[in-house]
Amino acid sequence: MSEQKPREQWGTKLGVIMAVAGSAVGLGNFLRFPVQAAQNGGGAFMIPYFISFLLLGIPLMWIEWAIGRYGGLFGHGSAPFILNRLWKHRVVKYLGVIGIFGPIVVFIYYTYIESWLLGYAFFALTGKLLAIATPEGMKGFLAAYQGLAPGSNIWTAYIFFLITFALNFYFLYRGVQAGIELLCKIALPVLFLFGAIVAVRVLTFGAPDPARPDWNVLNGLGFLWNPDFSVLTNANVWLAAAGQIFFTLSVGMGAILTYASYLKRGDDVVLSGLTAASTNELAEVVLGGSIVIPAAFAFFGLAGATAAAHSGAFNLGFVTMPLIFGQIPLGEIFALLWFALLFLAGLTSSVSLAEPAVAFVCDEFDLDRKTAIRRLGVVLFILMQFPIFFLGHGVVDELDFWAGTFCLVLFGTIEAVLFVWVFGIEKAWDEMHHGAEMRIPGFYKPIIKYVTPLFLCFILGFWFYQQALPLLLMQGVSPEARPYVLATRFGLILLFLAIALLVRIAWYRKKAQGKVE
Ligand code: ALA
Repeated sequence: MSEQKPREQWGTKLGVIMAVAGSAVGLGNFLRFPVQAAQNGGGAFMIPYFISFLLLGIPLMWIEWAIGRYGGLFGHGSAPFILNRLWKHRVVKYLGVIGIFGPIVVFIYYTYIESWLLGYAFFALTGKLLAIATPEGMKGFLAAYQGLAPGSNIWTAYIFFLITFALNFYFLYRGVQAGIELLCKIALPVLFLFGAIVAVRVLTFGAPDPARPDWNVLNGLGFLWNPDFSVLTNANVWLAAAGQIFFTLSVGMGAILTYASYLKRGDDVVLSGLTAASTNELAEVVLGGSIVIPAAFAFFGLAGATAAAHSGAFNLGFVTMPLIFGQIPLGEIFALLWFALLFLAGLTSSVSLAEPAVAFVCDEFDLDRKTAIRRLGVVLFILMQFPIFFLGHGVVDELDFWAGTFCLVLFGTIEAVLFVWVFGIEKAWDEMHHGAEMRIPGFYKPIIKYVTPLFLCFILGFWFYQQALPLLLMQGVSPEARPYVLATRFGLILLFLAIALLVRIAWYRKKAQGKVE
């Protein structure tokens, strides 16, 4: 290991936990989770959700922390080269390409959506947003902002996109400790504070319309949490719960793997991984579960909350919530807190999505961080123009399915199988406990060895059968959107191949230097 060049490292233990929690706490916690819960059986959704958390989320969190720290020992911070340390087989590095490709693709649409939040925070402050009083008006405002309404353009959105893009690259440019760690140490407590203020305000709404006393927050909480156990026999509910766990914890993306590569050899991974995962659950279940759905119920009743939950996360966040804030005293302030907290949650997640590519270029092409980021910035900027300019043609949904859903489960399965079955459960168990501040309960050993990989394979198979096949055949895609969807797929294949080629080139460079076998 004497050949390693010095790599960046986290400054403090708290810093790395905050960074991983920052990656996990994102738009998924506040928008995606309540919609998934409300659409999939309310309180009963929490059963497959917590089972997935215990059997997939926590094990994968530990696995990614342990593999990442292990790869970092050899000077590698990205999946192709880290996974190769677990199994020296020539195809493994190409499986690892998913761990760079997936987060890049999520980054290119996620960061654009994040920029809307900055724009909406600005319009909340100016009063322009809350002056709109009807759902049609608010939907029209969103469509005009996105450049999708007739006669509208995207230039306002584009300015906020440029600011958001610059902020992401500013923190990435400053580095692991002075950029990402600093950002997360400040942004995470701030977003929790804002989230708590907004949640308390929602929970004290009572029954805002005296003529409709049953439209109240308690009934809203009941609507979200009262269990409908009949859904538990529906496999889709289980898939939705597992998908939410992957997305919200950022596991199976490659981001945590890279973050963990900046740990020191003796740093704990067991307690830290658990703390980061628990922080995410606190933000998701307690804060995420107390805001949008109960608020929608109190103001729009059962029918309104049901319609809002089924209209999707964007409508809830960008249409329903501002309409509600427009009806309460100091609504501008609460709307500002709401969009600011979502923006900060998005920012701490998006930097983590870009980091695997940064680590790959720095570690494997021996570039200094600033040069790597400048070059990568140009590439990502170009790629981001596609979701921006083709938003209305199904491009974002396509990217989200392949990178934000399918790749996570696929990559999570690859990591788990390689670590537990190829590297070996005994070595894996020792590796996880190296420097650990607590021991993982013994019953987790068979869970990690058998249950997690089997559960993953089942989900992958079922998902592929049920969702990927109809999607591959473009069922449900309108004839106008088909050329765009096909072009997106073609683009994704090209991007994957380009990264695979870079991995190959890097591999031969490192081989010539005698740094990989
Ligand atoms: N884990 C991040 C989120 O929930 C990506 O938004």
